[in-house]
Amino acid sequence: MSDKAKYDELQSFIDEMKNEKGPLMPVMQKAQDIFGYLPFDVQKFIALGLDVPLTEVYGVATFYSQFNLEKQGEHSLSLCLGTACYVKGAQTLLDRLEQELKVKTGDTTKDGKFTLIGTRCLGCCGLAPVMMIDDDVYGQVKADEIPEILKKY
Ligand code: FES
Repeated sequence: MSDKAKYDELQSFIDEMKNEKGPLMPVMQKAQDIFGYLPFDVQKFIALGLDVPLTEVYGVATFYSQFNLEKQGEHSLSLCLGTACYVKGAQTLLDRLEQELKVKTGDTTKDGKFTLIGTRCLGCCGLAPVMMIDDDVYGQVKADEIPEILKKY
């Protein structure tokens, strides 16, 4: 979809929601569905469209973790940094991932393929250290297995 078509779609949703109660969250959710994230220009567009201060849109975007301000990679790679995983060497895995992907935690690779995320306990500490790529769970990961795992995506 072209940018123009995206903005058109967002505009019709804003028109629909404008007179509803509490339109900001649904409009922002819709914008994220359309654009994949909420860049500054989109936040401005929402603020103008709903006639709310830009600071309010920005405040909501940064407060709720469901909203992304940065463009996300095709795959999200979450490495657990919870206690159990940390004790079992998550830091070594993180260093290796940053080195292999040439990014810092929180960033997206240049080719747009992966976004590297450090997360809290993923709830499967028995498998520590754990990482997830999209919905795939990898347990007892060793640093040397990382290149092989990344190749699958
Ligand atoms: S600490 Fe990593 S899964 Fe629980």
